[in-house]
Parts: sequence; C-alpha cells; structure tokens
Amino acid sequence: MSDLRSLLHPKSIAVIGASKTPGKIGNAVIENIKASGYTGEVYPINPKETEIAGYKAYPNIKDVGKPIDVAVFCVPAAASLAVAEDCGQAGVKHLIVITAGFKEIGPEGKKLEEDLVKIARKYGMRITGPNNLGVMDTHTPMNATFAKDFALKGNIAFISQSGALCVAILDWSFQRGLGFSQFISIGNKADLNEADFIEAVAEDPNTKVICLYLEDVVNGDRFIEACRKATPKVPVIVFKSGITAAGAKAASSHTGALAGSNTAYDAAFRHAGVIRAKTMTELFDLADAFTKQPVPRGKNVVVVTNSGGPGIVASDAVETLGLTMARFTEETLKELREKLPPTANIHNPVDVVGDAHADRYKIALDTTLKDPNVDAAVVLLSPTAVLDIEEAARITIEAAKAHPDKAVVAAFMGGAKVDAGVKLLQANGIPTYTFPEPAVATLRGMVEYGKLRSEVAASTEWTFDDVDKAGVKAIFDKVRADGRDLLLGPEAAQVAELYKIPAAPSKLATDADAAVAAAEAIGYPVVMKIASPDIMHKTDVGGVKVNLNTKEEVVEAFGAIMESCKKAEPNARIYGVEVQKMMPKGDELIIGMTKDPTFGPMIAFGSGGILVNLLQDASFRLAKGLSKSEVEQMITETKAYTLLKGFRGAPPDDIPALVEAIGRVAQLCRDFDEIAELDVNPVFAYPKGLSALDVKIKLK
Ligand code: COA
Repeated sequence: MSDLRSLLHPKSIAVIGASKTPGKIGNAVIENIKASGYTGEVYPINPKETEIAGYKAYPNIKDVGKPIDVAVFCVPAAASLAVAEDCGQAGVKHLIVITAGFKEIGPEGKKLEEDLVKIARKYGMRITGPNNLGVMDTHTPMNATFAKDFALKGNIAFISQSGALCVAILDWSFQRGLGFSQFISIGNKADLNEADFIEAVAEDPNTKVICLYLEDVVNGDRFIEACRKATPKVPVIVFKSGITAAGAKAASSHTGALAGSNTAYDAAFRHAGVIRAKTMTELFDLADAFTKQPVPRGKNVVVVTNSGGPGIVASDAVETLGLTMARFTEETLKELREKLPPTANIHNPVDVVGDAHADRYKIALDTTLKDPNVDAAVVLLSPTAVLDIEEAARITIEAAKAHPDKAVVAAFMGGAKVDAGVKLLQANGIPTYTFPEPAVATLRGMVEYGKLRSEVAASTEWTFDDVDKAGVKAIFDKVRADGRDLLLGPEAAQVAELYKIPAAPSKLATDADAAVAAAEAIGYPVVMKIASPDIMHKTDVGGVKVNLNTKEEVVEAFGAIMESCKKAEPNARIYGVEVQKMMPKGDELIIGMTKDPTFGPMIAFGSGGILVNLLQDASFRLAKGLSKSEVEQMITETKAYTLLKGFRGAPPDDIPALVEAIGRVAQLCRDFDEIAELDVNPVFAYPKGLSALDVKIKLK
C-alpha cells in the first residue's frame, strides 16, 4: 500500500517556479497555499527572488537544507528533469507535477515522462501527475493547486483524471454546498494512479465517500483490490467516460488514455463493489447523500406526497430502478386511517392530498418511518397556498432525525415558493431535488451500495482442486508444437474433460475404419465433423453429418465429408474427422471467455446456439476472483434463465450443474493465460446434467 499521508498532510511544501507575477501558475499555487491556511513550512523556489508571498525564497531546492515532504512543479517541462534530480538530492518525498507537455503530447513527451519516473524511482520519490491541477486537502488544510478557489470543508474525496473538470466541479460545488475532504487531480498518472489514491483516502477519517472521474484504469487488478478494500468502509462511486467508440477516441486524445470496453468496466466495477454513476450529476447527488444519510438496510421505499401526479412519477421510478414500494403493516395502515382524513391515500404512495397542512406530513412520516417494512422515504411537496412549506421542511428534518437508520430524501417541487424550504432541508442534511426521479435514483444508488458492500464482504474466488492442469498444459504444448493456435474439436473436448466440464464424448479419426471404431466405442448415434484448424464454418462446406446410426452410414459420411471439404477448401490443413456422440436436444446455452486488456479474462453466459448474435442475451463477469454467488447471479440476469427455470410447463434444467460448469471454465481461463479465446457453444442443458457440444479454444 502506498503511504500518501505525507502528500495529503505534508509538514512542508516547496513550490518550484513560484512566481511574484499574478496570472502565472507559480503565483497561483503559492498564493493558494497561503490562503488555504496551511500551517506547515513553505519554500518558494525561484533563482531570481529572495521572497515570494511573504515566504523566504531559495534559488534551488537544495539550498533549503530542511526536510521537504512535497515539491510542486510550476516550471516548464524542459526544466523538469533537472528539477527532479535536485528534489531527489534534497530528499523530497512527493512531486506534484502540474507542468504539462508529457505523455499527452506524443512520443517525445512520453519519453520525458518515463525519464521523470526513472529519476523519481532512483530517489524513492512518488509523482502525482504530471499534467494536473494539483492536490487539496481541506482538513490539513492545504491547497496546492492553481484552482481559483479552495473547496468547502467536508467529507467527499474527489479524484479526477481531468484537471479542467476539477475546476468546473469546484466552482459548481459552492452553489450546491458540497464539502470535500480531498480534491485530487491525477493527470497523466505516470506513477501514482487511481488505485493509490483510493487506498489513501479510504484510510482518511475525514472521507465518507470517494468519487472518481476516470477515463481509464491503469492496472485492473490493483484497482479492484483497492476498491474492494475501500468498499466495506466507504462507498466508491465512479463516473467513467469514454463509453462509446467515439468517447473512447476522445479519451485517448485527452490524457493519452486508452479506454477498455464498457462491458469489462461494468463487470469490474461490480466485482470491485464500485457504484457506477451514469452522469456527473448522479455522481455528486450520490456523494452528497452518502455524507448526509444512512445507507438503507433494504430497498423498501415509502413515498409521501401532497399531490397524486408526482406520487405516481416517484412510484414509477421506484419500480423501474429496481426498488420496491413498501407494503405497510396492518398497524401502520390502522394508524394512518385513524389520523389522516378519509380523502387521503393511506397506501403507498401516501397522499396527504392537496388541502394538507404541514401536520399531515408529520403524521405520514412519523407513522411510516417507524414501520419495519420501510427502509427509506421520498418526501414530495407541491407548493399549495394552504401549506407552510418551511414547516413541512422542519417536519421532514425532525422525522429523519428520529429515524437515523432510514434514509430520507426530498423533492420540494417548484421555484421561488419552495426555495426557503429547500434551503432548510439542504442545510439540515436532507438531499433535495427539483423532481422525484433523481431523488429515487439517489436512494437506488445507496441501496446498491449496501448490496455491493455485503457481496464484496461475502465473496471469495471459487476454485476446484480436482482439475488436471498438467494434462491441459500437455495438450496446449502439443498444439503449439504442431504450429497451431486453434485446438481441434477432440483436443478441446479433452481439455474440458480434464477440468470436469461435461463435454460430449469425441474422438479424432484419420480414416473410415478408425471412424467406425470411434463410433462403436462412443455408441450410436454419432455426429461427424471435419477436423481442421482452417475451417471455421464447417456446415457451410459440407463438413458436418448428423444422426449417423450404422457402420455403413459412418463410412459413407467419412468419404463425403473429406471429399466436399477438400473441394471447398483445397488449402486447408485437414487432420481427419471428429466423431462425436450425438447428444439429445437440450436448452441451448453459451459459456465463453473474452479478454479485456485492463481486467483480463471475462466470462460470458447466455442463450446459445445459432441465435447467439441475434439474441445478444449474455451476462459477463471477470474470471479473476469469481465467486459461486456471482456465477449464480449472472445466470439470473439472462433471458435464458426463464428457460432454465422451466418454461411453459417444461421441467427445470440442472442449474447447479451449469453453475459449476461456469465456475470451472473460469478456473481454466485463470489457470491458462495463454487461452486467448474460448467458446463453448452450444451447451445443452438438461433436467439432469448438461453437455458441451462444441468447445472452441484459441491460444495466444
Ligand atoms: N527553478 C526554479 N524556478 C524556475 C526554474 C527552475 N529550474 N526555471 C524557471 N523558473 C521560474 C521562472 O523564472 C518563473 O518565475 P518568474 O515568474 O519569477 O520569472 C517561473 O519559474 C515559471 O517559469 P516560466 O518559464 O515563466 O514558466 P510559465 O509560468 O510560463 O509556465 C508552466 C510553467 C508549468 C505553467 C507551464 O510549463 C505549463 O506546463 N502549463 C500548463 C499547465 C497545465 O495546464 N497543467 C495541467 C492542468 S490540468
């Protein structure tokens, strides 16, 4: 773990290139450090000055002669290597390199960045940046950035790959009243990256939630490890840009980032216990809520409203976002019936109706929040002439205080009329929105965190020790020695068997007699397929014959397959014909693996057979760290699950066998990094057991 305490809470800071000239970055940084109330030692470094911003200046950092925790670089890129050498010799611990002109400008800058890292490594210094805005910690307090302002003191740690976004968010945060513990601009991530900062701020007692803006992740394994360690303590919320092909392109031209695929990020975030915000607004809505409200224990929501329409809007949002409208106990219903007028709706959404005074909000909230079936509340208000809005706000605040284990959010809808009430709610820790949907979306994010937190705590990698790794290695070696990267059908089936993945029995036959012997050993009926690493679509070239029941049929099929394949693909390497047991029809599924450059092998499960591409019904998980419950969950996410459970009177399929097969495929892919691609399609699922019909394995 990287210890970043001396970066976030330094005892001394040098600003290299500190300047007296307003408008220069070196001036902004030194003035910001001073204005932030930083109480440690400050050393401006400038060869021409003796004093800057009231601090004694030194011509070179080596002249300071005292320990220095952090050096902030405000000198041009061309000077950076010499300055880094000086810092190393002066015993500096951290470099915050604001300077641009590194990796983001191309090969020349990339080389400069690498050289900078080499110098840092030589002296054991850590680098934040280059090409960043700097670092703030409001509790230290320290503002070592060139932003216009210092963040409000609070409990959100914000880590951003874009410096420009940092300044924009900072400016906007004042309006929203958002308070930050740290504001960290990570720039090009030449040395320290998101994982280091997640680890560091998760340990910080002032941080209650970690928010990230990311364009890419440097090291998938490290990122997951850092997030899984942080999640049990604090929520980690990420807004990841570069989702679409166009977005990814923009990302790579921005900070030189190479974006991974969206699916891999979804799978990785989920495994890491990270909440993925879909918009920047959602990122900070959630961050704000996490610092103010408790994580709900469950997903049962009560909606309290004084008008029908918004109540329906909120209820729709609850259902569409996967939350549940709470069902009250008889006791709650009785109390509501007694205390509210007959015109009110006592069922969820609780409508205190348009003529309500604030006291009806009190009845509705006090009664429903104490119901054990309620985990969270959304308070909606439309500004009628008869309602004292500030009083309704005070009641909401009191009700939330009286139930500290239940999350309360509000949407006081309107403009100037509701303004004072909204301000009161915000100042008293009730997250407030203009309309119902974002209020519900925030609750959903909080509920999701609760779920992810327990999933992360409970999940351990599912491994099998009854697999034959050496046997598989021998097959792979043989395939490579033969100059191939694609396994023949019988080889792949054998690999599956060695990992106890049930595959249809299969043998390679090089002549008709051998084919008959194979068929008789396996048992009729059989299927015969051309065995060639060069023929991908076997059916198209007459390379497949099914339902062969006799010796004569097998002999004839062998001749026909060979003849038609040789004619259609004269240059293909043909190893013979694969004789496979013809399996009874089952529900067709696919289990597969594709590799992501950042997060490694990803396991896919879904509807299989020839409709794979058409149905696009698949769910993904990372192979690394895959737990049994994650496998069970990935099955339930697909449409195929409906079939597996027993569709229209059909008996259910053997789901436990399927779960195990997926777990074993994941282990095979973890054990053998040389597997580049793997497809088991189709897998036939039966009420008892399953059978992998076609196993395709391609090596790197
Ligand atoms: N040691 C100490 N001081 C040095 C120095 C050295 N080796 N070399 C230069 N200086 C001094 C200069 O004399 C100058 O001080 P002055 O104002 O008193 O004359 C100061 O350092 C800055 O040098 P200067 O050459 O004037 O550079 P600059 O201020 O025009 O630009 C950067 C420096 C870092 C701002 C610029 O190179 C840069 O990278 N800008 C982009 C930053 C950015 O966008 N980052 C990403 C944000 S998200």
